[in-house]
Parts: sequence; C-alpha cells; structure tokens
Amino acid sequence: LHEHPEVFRRYPLVPVHGIPLMEPIAQQWAPIENFEARPDDLLISTYPKAGTTWMQEIVDLIRSGGDVEKARRAPTYVRIPFLEICSPPPVPSGVDTLVDVPSPRVIKTHLPFQLVPKSFFENNCKIIYVARNAKDNLVSYYFFDRMNLTQPDPGPWDSYVKKFMEGKVAWGSWYDHVRRYWDERANHRILYVFYEDVKEDPAREICRVKDFLEIDLPEDIVQKITHHTSFQVMKENPMSNYSTFPETIFDKRIGSFMRKGEVGDWKNYFTVAQNEAFDADYQRKMEGTTLRFRDVL
Ligand code: A3P
Repeated sequence: LHEHPEVFRRYPLVPVHGIPLMEPIAQQWAPIENFEARPDDLLISTYPKAGTTWMQEIVDLIRSGGDVEKARRAPTYVRIPFLEICSPPPVPSGVDTLVDVPSPRVIKTHLPFQLVPKSFFENNCKIIYVARNAKDNLVSYYFFDRMNLTQPDPGPWDSYVKKFMEGKVAWGSWYDHVRRYWDERANHRILYVFYEDVKEDPAREICRVKDFLEIDLPEDIVQKITHHTSFQVMKENPMSNYSTFPETIFDKRIGSFMRKGEVGDWKNYFTVAQNEAFDADYQRKMEGTTLRFRDVL
C-alpha cells in the first residue's frame, strides 16, 4: 500500500452482477468469486461505514482473550484483511494477501450476500454481520467518500442523499444489503449485530459475539474489551484508527476515519424536506421485512 502511491485515484464504479464496485475490484473479479474459504474462516460483513472496524477490533480482542498488546501488533487492515479489495497492480489484492494467512482467518467484506464467494457457504463458515441505521450510515459514508481518495467524489450533500437512496454508491443499495443478510440468518450461521445495540450496551453485544465464536471469557476481560473498543480509546490507538493508512488514500486534511461514532448524528445534516422524502422512500424499500432499526429520531 505504502510502496505504490502513484496507483491510487478516485476510481469509477463498475457493475459486477449489477452491484457497483470500484473499478479495480470489477477488473479482478474472478479471483474474488473463486476465493477458497476454509471451514474455520470467520467473515465480518457490513455495508460500508456500519461499524466494520469496531467489530474487527472486538473480534480480534475476543480471540486474543483480551490481550491488548497483541491487538496492537499491526493495524486493523493488516490483522484482518479485506477480501475484495483490489488496487491496480503491483499492489497485492485482498485475495493475494489472504492465501498466505494461517488459519483460523478473520476476513472483512462489504460484499452483498449474493456476491459473497460460494465457498464460504459450502464450508458453512460463520459470518458476523453489522448493520447501522440508514441515515447515520449515509452521513458516515458521505464524509468518508470525501476523504477516501479511491471512492467516487460524493459531490454536494443533496445529490449524495439521492445517490445513496438509489444505491448508486460503492457496494450498492444499503436497503438490499441489510435486508438480504437479515433474511439469510435462517439458512446460514450469521450473527446479526446492530451498531446502535453495541453503542447502547457494548458488554452485552461483546458477549453475543464471544458466544457465537464459542469462546469463554471471564467478566473482567469482557469489561476490558469494552474499554479498549470504546470510540475514544480506538480513536487514540494508531493500530485501530487508520492513521497509518497512506495519505494518498485517506486525505486526513479533509476528515478523520474515526469521525464521531455516534447514533443520531444524521439530525445535524438532513433537512426536514430531505428527511420526509427519505422516510417515504424507506417505507417503500423496506416493505415486507421484519428487520427493524431502533428509533433514532
Ligand atoms: P462515523 O463516521 O459516524 O463517526 P466502518 O468501520 O464500517 O468504516 O465504520 C466507520 C464508522 O464507525 C465511523 O462512523 C466511525 O467513527 C465508527 N466507529 C469506529 N469505531 C467505533 C467505536 N469504537 N465506537 C463507535 N463508533 C465507531
């Protein structure tokens, strides 16, 4: 990543099976689709900006039994590789990196359910899915796309809201993404976690994750993990705050990866008219699902 700053730019989105993905991913799609999962792989799946990094830190600390020093061995993106990430050669892809990672691997993805490589399901791999309410997710994505110099420019706020509603952003429709994983819980080993729930009671949700991973931890270790995965502590930790990421990808003059970490921040950005239009559209897009996000009004 650091060795080839010249390859990074704002890539256009190119559809892969109908889902808009960054051009280098679309160009190198075959090795992703054919990725060979192992039975003990754990997949952390999210729509972008739903709390991926937070869950990565929680999972890494659970698996190390709360060993904070061990979790500082490398930045998040090295400890838990990103399955589908691709840059133009010679930067190694996520798939290239993962081939050499010893088992048991933890893998990050933003792929919608239908694009997750089949081998994960053939091997009955566990999946932790994190979902965040649409409006906060949108706000977070808007600010991220401003500072992430490999994503399309988000443009003005009003047009970004429309793009998000239409699913014309990287990794496609938020609505389809959260709904499909919710439905697939019945068929696969998926733990569905809400960002808002982790904010409300992190120890409770950390316990859900450790139980899902079948790892026993005493109460004091759960408390320790709660502390080390709080927004403030992760924001100060160079191994979890993306401060080590190349400037050519994240422009830290424009924004910070650990931006705010709150529930309900959307209220600071949506106008009344935008909110009404968003809600009406939301009702239509989410019709028929039992998936409910808590009221963050
Ligand atoms: P904001 O932009 O709202 O601050 P992802 O890791 O999926 O890219 O998601 C990033 C979002 O999760 C950002 O949201 C970031 O601040 C938030 N986040 C990261 N770590 C967090 C933590 N420990 N507690 C709460 N929010 C966190």
